[in-house]
Amino acid sequence: MLKGKKFILGVSGGIAAYKTAHLIRLLVKQGAEVQVIMTKLAKEFITPLTLATLSKRPILVDFFNPENGDWNSHVDNGLWADAMIVAPATANTMGKMANGVADNLLITTYLSARCPVFIAPTMDLDMYQHPSTVRNMETLRSYGNYMIEPNSGELASGLVGKGRMAEPEEIVDSLNAYFTANQKSDFEGKSVLVTAGPTHEKIDPVRFIGNYSSGKMGYAIAHEFAQRGAIVTLVSGPTSLSVDHPNINRVNVVSASEMYNACSPVFPNVDVAVMSAAVADYTPVTKAQIKIKRVNKDLNIELESTVDIAKDLGHKKKDNQLVVGFALETNDAVNNAKKKLESKQLDMIVLNTLEDDGAGFNVDTNKISIVDKQNNTKDFALKSKVEVAVDIVNEIQTLLNSK
Ligand code: CTP
Repeated sequence: MLKGKKFILGVSGGIAAYKTAHLIRLLVKQGAEVQVIMTKLAKEFITPLTLATLSKRPILVDFFNPENGDWNSHVDNGLWADAMIVAPATANTMGKMANGVADNLLITTYLSARCPVFIAPTMDLDMYQHPSTVRNMETLRSYGNYMIEPNSGELASGLVGKGRMAEPEEIVDSLNAYFTANQKSDFEGKSVLVTAGPTHEKIDPVRFIGNYSSGKMGYAIAHEFAQRGAIVTLVSGPTSLSVDHPNINRVNVVSASEMYNACSPVFPNVDVAVMSAAVADYTPVTKAQIKIKRVNKDLNIELESTVDIAKDLGHKKKDNQLVVGFALETNDAVNNAKKKLESKQLDMIVLNTLEDDGAGFNVDTNKISIVDKQNNTKDFALKSKVEVAVDIVNEIQTLLNSK
């Protein structure tokens, strides 16, 4: 449930700060990204180096980096996150959160965050019961923040009572419960076909014609559809990726013709087909049965065109079906994408150009534009492929609703 989710973890200065090391490990293990923001006092309880190593990101403490003046934007961080967790949340930090005392990065980020906020308080028994703490917690609840109640037990002071921060496992359970309950299910009852990865066109038993596609974009799209309730057939060329979702049925293929044969019987029963595979346009006319030996002259391999799967499905589609294609262009990108949209009779085409840094094959990010049948072009910022998948599926949902 937490795979691909992004968390701001605000750590304030309480002894329970040591537990955040384990919390980060649990979140990262579930495939989440964690950006830690610490208060100055929190650094006395656990070192930034420990948390930076576990979260694989530099820790943020100050409003700016005094070495080079780099601004740590609380607004960007607040918008980036799917949820903010304040753990441990001391009486002091909760008081500032409740009253908008914006004197550190944790609080300014909290005040800028549009995402849900989870607060795991920690403090001594009497502080926890003090009317000011009780009132601040009520105020925070009234803002829509989620309290992860502390446990009872022996406290650092030696007193026994309520005030021990919830265990990292309990915090992760609360996050899972929240995201499960708030999961979008706008594709419930829909069937989707996604192609992904490269194809390998056999030359002889040890060689093939292939391309650099990793399959990451297609897999992220399949996963996003499945998360939102669709039943997905993922027809995948050779990749090193794995899928782990009960709604995804993965069909492994190697060549363009195998991909076509896998897609054809599935297509009539789907609502949406997303053709994100980098399918070879040509395949050797003859596939040698034994290894081709080096000879003292040049070698020519005769190629024939493969079937254009997107075009075939685009021409067969019924009125209630959508076919979405991809275009990877190196020049005159938008015009080339528009031509593909028309000739393949697609409803929408996702364009990425190798001119953009961070877009294309074998990277974790992508920068896309989406062109529709009315020739509208919508440009998106450079994002992780998981986030790009959300944008693409959102656009498909809008198109389906307008049908
Ligand atoms: N595609 C396909 N079957 C093929 C070739 C391409 O389904 N044999 C699909 C891709 O999955 C993608 C779209 O068609 O959704 C565009 O692929 P691309 O290779 O960019 O387009 P081509 O039509 O092959 O044009 P060109 O290579 O000349 O740019």
